[in-house]
Amino acid sequence: MSRPDPNELVAAAQAAIENAHAPYSEYRVGAALLTVDGELFTGCNVENASYGLTICAERSAIAAAVSAGKRDFAALAIAAAPATSPPYPCGACRQVLAEFAGPDFPVYVASAAAPEGFEQLTLGDLLPKVFAERGIG
Ligand code: THU
Repeated sequence: MSRPDPNELVAAAQAAIENAHAPYSEYRVGAALLTVDGELFTGCNVENASYGLTICAERSAIAAAVSAGKRDFAALAIAAAPATSPPYPCGACRQVLAEFAGPDFPVYVASAAAPEGFEQLTLGDLLPKVFAERGIG
């Protein structure tokens, strides 16, 4: 996958839900992050008995990619189960994404309510006026 194909990316995020470790919230999240050179990194939420140590799916995908030496990203998709409402990324994940992506960066949020099965947003939609002490991007 070298160009962001929203359907493929959302499908990868849905598949990543499988690995979620969410025994406390029972809310399972999957994320799929595409690099500009066509590599796909997925992540899931990893909860902990000490609840505050939980890692979100988006940040686990970002950490996987950065750990593999990748920092140039093309798009992110997020899916969750149960799909009661669209799994918009939390504020912390938005800020972490802003470390590596600009305001036009596409974010696909799986939604049963959307006609195509996902909502297409940008990081700028999700996080306007981002904090950037020294400039990001
Ligand atoms: N969660 C994510 O994985 N991503 C988000 O952006 C928000 C929340 C997870 C954390 C926790 O395991 C569960 O969803 C319920 O908050």
